[in-house]
Amino acid sequence: MIDTSAASLIDRRFFLRQFSAGAIGLIGVSSHRSFALAADESRLFVHSKAPMNAEPTPPDLVRSWVTPVDSFFIRSHGNTPQVDADSFRLSVEGLVETPLTLSLAELGKFPQPEIVATLTCAGNRRSEHSRIKPVKGVQWREGAIGNAKWRGASLSDVLKKAGLRESAKHVWFEGLDTVEDGGKTFAFGGSIPLEKVFQAKDNSPGSVLLATSMNDQPLTADHGFPVRMVVPGYIGARSVKWLNKIVVSDRPSPNHFVADVYKLVDQGTLLEVAENAPIYRMPLNSAICTPTAGTTLQPGRIEVLGYALPPGVPGVTISLVEVSSDRGQTWVKAKLTANALEYCWQLWSAEIATTFATKELIVRATDSRGEVQPETVRWNAKGYLFNAWHHVPVN
Ligand code: MTE
Repeated sequence: MIDTSAASLIDRRFFLRQFSAGAIGLIGVSSHRSFALAADESRLFVHSKAPMNAEPTPPDLVRSWVTPVDSFFIRSHGNTPQVDADSFRLSVEGLVETPLTLSLAELGKFPQPEIVATLTCAGNRRSEHSRIKPVKGVQWREGAIGNAKWRGASLSDVLKKAGLRESAKHVWFEGLDTVEDGGKTFAFGGSIPLEKVFQAKDNSPGSVLLATSMNDQPLTADHGFPVRMVVPGYIGARSVKWLNKIVVSDRPSPNHFVADVYKLVDQGTLLEVAENAPIYRMPLNSAICTPTAGTTLQPGRIEVLGYALPPGVPGVTISLVEVSSDRGQTWVKAKLTANALEYCWQLWSAEIATTFATKELIVRATDSRGEVQPETVRWNAKGYLFNAWHHVPVN
């Protein structure tokens, strides 16, 4: 286990040094103010306060398999709504037999399954993307990821109650926040294919939830109080917070964050955006969280810790994590320290021999289908889904 307090203190200094002088400077948004610790988010480094975007330090991130809420990244595009629980109502409409308007108490009457699922931002590791060629957006390191226990009504139960019309194919979600983009103001929205909702058996790990609780506590305002979607295996953007409205449709949502934003594009021209499908699944990934970049190592043996994320494919788990200290010539098999579960990250540790010649550590993961994390990835204009081998330079 990691000595969290010491590791986190050391890493905070490192984080500030790296972020203020390094990768962030590259794209011209270097600012000490941006990376100050927020009073109410004391374990997180804050990229921006309005909207709130913050991530834990790498050693803090892997101190436990279930990520404590105060170490869980926050990714918001607009304001953080303060919602009154008593007057809150969720509407379910569109291609349903009976539209519903549900209070929190009514939502609580559905069975309340609990799942553990990892939530990952599509922009996780964007700062590495920007080292290839600068990309706009929050320059996330490897901390825009967290693994939590979620509890709430399952979307399949709610949709069964509303009754689906035959032409139903997609489910849209809308939040209560307001986002500004291109001179327009609108709510954040997401959308998933209906098949994803009914793919997982009731109460099984892949269940799509209307979560009201995170790690046995009501959701905090930053994480979507009172209700948010949790879509296991999909990019975090589909797990809409401050959920206000569900619309069943025969097509994906026209919301900006489905129709335009979360797409893999080379240039981002209007035509290219229109021609490309929205991103849904997260790909296979892994990262080293300790030691952190810039750490001075003595020759000898060190413990390396990190996470690996299986792709968001049903039944697929992490089967192998390997670490190299000689630029990928030889690899040491890491010990996997949790059960192999679909839609959940795997934490791992590896003992590595280092010499004066050791200049970097590298990790790569393999999934249960035998697919290996790619050595490099193709650059994309929005900096999404960066999952190349993770390199950590050391002294
Ligand atoms: N939902 C709303 N309403 N507004 C948002 O800005 N951000 C999305 C998603 N849901 C967002 C949202 C993105 S991009 C991610 S990665 C996750 O929420 C982050 O969830 P978290 O802040 O609880 O970690």
